[in-house]
Amino acid sequence: MGRTVIELGGKVAIVTGAARGLGAAIARGLIDAGAAVTIADCDAEGGTATAAALGARAMFHATDLTRDEDLDACVAATRARFGRLDILVNCAVTYQDRGLDATRAEWVQALNVNLVGAALLTARAGAAMTVPGGVVVNIGSVGGKFGAAGRALYPAAKAALLQFTRNAAVSLAPRGIRVLSISPAWTWSPALEAMAGTIEEADAVGARVHPVGRVGRGADVANAVVFACSDRAAFITGVDIPVDGGFSILGPDAGRSPRQWFAREG
Ligand SMILES: NC(=O)c1ccc[n+]([C@@H]2O[C@H](COP(=O)([O-])OP(=O)(O)OC[C@H]3O[C@@H](n4cnc5c(N)ncnc54)[C@H](O)[C@@H]3O)[C@@H](O)[C@H]2O)c1
Repeated sequence: MGRTVIELGGKVAIVTGAARGLGAAIARGLIDAGAAVTIADCDAEGGTATAAALGARAMFHATDLTRDEDLDACVAATRARFGRLDILVNCAVTYQDRGLDATRAEWVQALNVNLVGAALLTARAGAAMTVPGGVVVNIGSVGGKFGAAGRALYPAAKAALLQFTRNAAVSLAPRGIRVLSISPAWTWSPALEAMAGTIEEADAVGARVHPVGRVGRGADVANAVVFACSDRAAFITGVDIPVDGGFSILGPDAGRSPRQWFAREG
């Protein structure tokens, strides 16, 4: 029996925040599955380089998610270049977050990029999609599911993005468009590299809170996005798919019994 692969040939996607990090990995995964991809990012230098590396089925479009005219232009440019639109992946992010010290302006900016930009682009892309069969994937985070000291803006936006996913899924289902979210845990990326230095260190520390024993890779997230965008996921909408190596199945005891905790203290 032949090996079956997920095929997105002929599909056209917009991936926000794809100049680097997980967005770039997701764009690569979609390209490898046969899709054409618009890299929508405010980083022109990184976005242009990433698009060039991905080849002829990739295009960079300078897009600031806080500007309505950029959202309109991104959708229009994608259709002009590739002829249609089937997939939107909302992946762009700002990690700016001073927690309870944040000003109103900082709150508004963080929510503008991480939540409102994604929601407004979903509406525009949804209206432009070839239907039925359109898909929106919102990238969430374990950070939006659990309490943590010192942060507030990013987790609040990510939690809200999952609720937006449920509402948009119900709103767009009659048009044949699915909306779902994928929530990574710690994943190798510029942000994690800045903290851990090396992938070996990231895996060593990450093993304590990810039962599979390592942090995620961009390809782990990209594989889930490709599946979510394919017809194999035709009956999945509105829900969150954790791609987190088991991070979110652990409780505050990090998977250790009291016996193990007290033995460690002793
Ligand atoms: N890296 C992780 O460990 C991790 C964990 C859980 C979830 N996530 C999620 O994965 C996604 C990607 O994370 P990452 O670490 O790769 O991020 P990153 O910071 O490496 O990349 C984010 C991208 O978003 C772009 N961007 C920022 N503001 C923008 C704006 N106003 N308009 C358009 N583009 C803008 C940036 O230019 C950048 O290219 C995010 O949604 C993040 O919340 C990441």
